[in-house]
Amino acid sequence: MAQQRSNWKSNLGFLLAAIGSAIGLGNVWRFSYMAHQYGGGAFLVPYLVALIVAGVPIMIIEYGLGHREKGSSPLSFVRINKRFEWIGWWMPVVAMFGIMLYYSVVIGWCINYFIFSFNLSWGGDTQHFFFSQFLQLSDSAADIGSIRFPIAAATLFVWLICWFICYRDVRHGIEKASMIFMPILFLLTIVLVLWSVFLEGASDAIFNHYLDADWSKINLIAEDPAVRSEAGKVWAAAFGQIFFTLSLGFGIMITYASYLPQKTDIGKNAFITCFVNCLYSFIAGFAVFGIVGFMAHNQGVPFEDAIKGGPQLAFVVYPQAISLLPSMNVLFGVIFFLMLVIAGLTSGISLIEAFSCAITDKFDWARGKVVTAICILGFLGSIIFTTRGGLYLLDIADHFITNYGLVAGGLLECIIIGWVLKASLMRNYISRLGTVITPLWDILVKFITPIILTYLLYLSLVGDITENYSGYPTGQLILYGVGLMLVCLVAAFILTLVPWKPEKLQRRHRPEEDELLI
Ligand code: ALA
Repeated sequence: MAQQRSNWKSNLGFLLAAIGSAIGLGNVWRFSYMAHQYGGGAFLVPYLVALIVAGVPIMIIEYGLGHREKGSSPLSFVRINKRFEWIGWWMPVVAMFGIMLYYSVVIGWCINYFIFSFNLSWGGDTQHFFFSQFLQLSDSAADIGSIRFPIAAATLFVWLICWFICYRDVRHGIEKASMIFMPILFLLTIVLVLWSVFLEGASDAIFNHYLDADWSKINLIAEDPAVRSEAGKVWAAAFGQIFFTLSLGFGIMITYASYLPQKTDIGKNAFITCFVNCLYSFIAGFAVFGIVGFMAHNQGVPFEDAIKGGPQLAFVVYPQAISLLPSMNVLFGVIFFLMLVIAGLTSGISLIEAFSCAITDKFDWARGKVVTAICILGFLGSIIFTTRGGLYLLDIADHFITNYGLVAGGLLECIIIGWVLKASLMRNYISRLGTVITPLWDILVKFITPIILTYLLYLSLVGDITENYSGYPTGQLILYGVGLMLVCLVAAFILTLVPWKPEKLQRRHRPEEDELLI
């Protein structure tokens, strides 16, 4: 029996769910450490350019496509043309198996650290605690080692919560959870930001390291080729971050928009999602720089020595700073890690939703059963990242999936919507629903964005061929990076082999478009 398609109860519920998907672990620490590493305030320039030329246009594509076709990512693509179904599968498969498997483990770390916060159990040497006691990190990616029980248990808990939320239809599951989680997340963030910026040493870090710009880091036309090449990496990283942070190229936003009622202002919703997400990152940056500045000041070390990148920022630097706070350390720690857990969960459920909706659309199986099976499989798949070598594996997977998987997905979306479906048709469809999209969008989607994304893929490829990412051995990069992407690609093709029920492929009646064609 065909499954009844669920829908959002309110536009606010949809927006909170979409913003919840966008705001995640990536906003809190990934953005801040990138901003520091790539030229402070100067990083905001490629970030904003990426937002304008790729983020907003592709958000409009994904919302427009999902709303117009009323389907998950594969159903939406197959309704455009059967040949593109694999692209529709590629995105949610990447979201589920390329990202959620390790993303759930990182949320599991946050849960552990949330518990550690109650008695600051990380002690004085937070670096040693994180790597040697908590992760018990093996020597290399080749040595996976045994499963870390506290991490596996927390990861199981993450999958259970996600299962509990996704099991129900979107209105009673994801929407309800977002209505509760998102206001709490905003409140916790405001408390943390206000607390952090008034700490001693915070303003120095914010003005001299966060907002102060090192323009040479983004200079693509510098005379020195080394400077140019470094600047290329910064621009590529800014675009990768925009895709990751806005949850683009995962099929999530297509799916979420498919649950919207016919009368919805798609353009406005796309702008609001992008704006709130990026503003959140920018504001969260004040908390991160503020507390690292406080720590540097307290220890009398330069800011550069105090800040660290990647996972170390949240799990080494932050705990250290929390321990140094003059008062209420426990409260600060609890708020910070709770904030990360909530941000992670609202993104995690969207990653699962993109894939489970795709499966229910194709096979017409009951949603509850699909979500249960996916969560069990997902947890089993996550176990590899809970091992002693898990950090290496997730680092490699994240690098390849973000720089290639998501960007390639975005590029294909631009080509198909811009050229095959025709950008003007989609633009007219969206404009008739409310906010008018200008023809500049057609130019972006058809020419500018695809050219830039192709160039970025080229830059990433050249960078990876010239130098092994983070110095990992080639075999490991091929196995966990390239191998993972190939598995996702093969899975996407296999899923296209199953035929659709003919009624699914029937062209939907689209009054606006018919009017347009008259
Ligand atoms: N958009 C989510 C994040 O930034 C995946 O973490």
